[in-house]
Amino acid sequence: MERTFVMVKPDGVQRGLVGEILGRFERKGYKVVALKMLRLSRALAEKHYGEHRDKPFFEGLVRFITSGPVVAAVLEGRDVVTGVRQMMGPTDPAKAPAGTIRGDFGIDVGRNVIHGSDGPDSAAREIALFFAPEELVGWERTLDIWIYE
Ligand code: RTP
Ligand code: MG
Repeated sequence: MERTFVMVKPDGVQRGLVGEILGRFERKGYKVVALKMLRLSRALAEKHYGEHRDKPFFEGLVRFITSGPVVAAVLEGRDVVTGVRQMMGPTDPAKAPAGTIRGDFGIDVGRNVIHGSDGPDSAAREIALFFAPEELVGWERTLDIWIYE
């Protein structure tokens, strides 16, 4: 089983989309193994988006992601990193197909409601950045026999 990091961004929280977004992942069959609301410090935001430090949108991105509370979660499931990215849709909601989270709930690239790790390495890095080991809850889900063969 694989794990990934997702975060409902400040726009998603302000717009009341937390339940809708987490609900989609739950209904898909992914298991929530960590969950919390927090407001990112500038330091955490700069670390999280460190790969974009030299991009022209970096300052705006950091300002936006620290502008209000976010909901951070770790999801577990088979191929969950790729699966979550598919459910999110492309970065720019204008290019995101209907049925994806960004396609259904976003318009502007700077207000794309959700973050998800883009690969197994960033998933491990981001999970460790946002959650202490004891905040990750391994639990047995009796439903799993109806989700996995
Ligand atoms: P995220 O990291 O937030 O999940 O988004 P992503 O992988 O789909 O896209 P990424 O390339 O990592 O970009 C991070 C965030 O920066 C903003 N962005 N703005 N103005 C622009 O051209 C531009 N490009 C990216 C987006 O809000 C994106 O989610
Ligand atoms: Mg990214």
